[in-house]
Amino acid sequence: MTTESTLTGTCGSGCGCGVSACGPLAAIRKPAAMQGAITRPDLAIREVRIAVSYQCNLRCMHCYVPEEHREQYAKYYPDALSTDELVSVVTTMAGNFGTKRISITGGEALMTPVWPRTERVMQAALESGLKVRLITGGAAQTPISTVLAAARRSDDLTFQVSLDGTDDAMVSKFRGRPYAYQRAVETIGTIAASGSPVFVRYTITEENYDQTVGCYDMVSELGAAAFVVKPVFSLGEAARNANTVHIDESTVRDLQLRLVEHSRGRRTKLKLPQPCYVGADELPHDANVEIMYCGCGRNVAYLAPNGDVYPCTYIVGMQDMSEHRLGNLRDPGFDLAAAWQAEDTYSTFRNAPKECHCTANELAKGDEQLVCRP
Ligand SMILES: C[S@@+](CC[C@H](N)C(=O)[O-])C[C@H]1O[C@@H](n2cnc3c(N)ncnc32)[C@H](O)[C@@H]1O
Ligand code: SF4
Ligand code: SF4
Repeated sequence: MTTESTLTGTCGSGCGCGVSACGPLAAIRKPAAMQGAITRPDLAIREVRIAVSYQCNLRCMHCYVPEEHREQYAKYYPDALSTDELVSVVTTMAGNFGTKRISITGGEALMTPVWPRTERVMQAALESGLKVRLITGGAAQTPISTVLAAARRSDDLTFQVSLDGTDDAMVSKFRGRPYAYQRAVETIGTIAASGSPVFVRYTITEENYDQTVGCYDMVSELGAAAFVVKPVFSLGEAARNANTVHIDESTVRDLQLRLVEHSRGRRTKLKLPQPCYVGADELPHDANVEIMYCGCGRNVAYLAPNGDVYPCTYIVGMQDMSEHRLGNLRDPGFDLAAAWQAEDTYSTFRNAPKECHCTANELAKGDEQLVCRP
């Protein structure tokens, strides 16, 4: 259910969402689910990861988003939240849910048909005082100069660009398109040269793990602020392609230790999200490393393009993802604040060990056994 102000009109934003009343002239739709507020500071939703669309110009075999979703989103997807609804969500989160940051993800937020949505969500967030991280494969059509201009070169905007190897053959194969490597490298260099912080995100599989240390060198030279390295989780396309897309824990730990050693005296920070198999007590005193811990289901939420709320991004690749769906922002009976603050909500995520553990990864391991392989 939505509430509306009085303005009406036809979409003039060119966002490609297909909604007849989306854009500057449109009615402002505020999801009824967002009427409440977080009253418990320990459960403030400090970060919301928003998938503005699942459309994508790349075709990664390791993507946690299943291919059928990306395909459906290639055209107008009837269930997608409108741009106005997304803007309303962002401004309400900033006001009533304790939100300090949004990450804009996808799919690919910088594809031509998606960019108008991304632009408005980004601007609304920045105007609401939120920090914004724009997550991209770095190979889409919207130039970085356009993004920076739309953000008025705000210091609150940072970028995360994916790069999973050191050469064209590896990266373009990994990302399923021949232009992926060249464009990603250019994008990283352009952002770094502009003075905006750029994090580079590397997904480790058995295929590319031996290029990880070299990629750390490469992105350091390109001027990246951080190198974020995470093993592949067996979800979505990765689960379907599990015969070729996988990595075992001991290889990941070995690689994490080598990367830690490589970070010593280096300007580009190494970031190791969970599951990190290196303990904080194993870090040399001069290592430039941050072990990252997630606030999944407690202080971090994920919003799918259709308005479904989850505790973590990766859950949408699970076969039984609906078990972890808190609700949909358009459901008439859904109250996000009340549901989020309920005592037993997301206890699997909230009570999980913080060290060497990632609940999505653990769930993925169980899920993999359910996947039918050819
Ligand atoms: C889903 S993508 C969306 C943004 C953009 N399309 C990109 O690739 O950066 C976000 C990040 O998740 C990573 N990723 C996708 N599937 C994954 C999986 N199964 N396990 C671990 N990371 C994954 C991607 O490589 C990328 O760095
Ligand atoms: S990982 Fe990112 S770039 Fe690759 S298919 Fe998924 S959404 Fe697209
Ligand atoms: S489940 Fe894993 S990836 Fe997801 S937010 Fe938690 S620790 Fe991070």
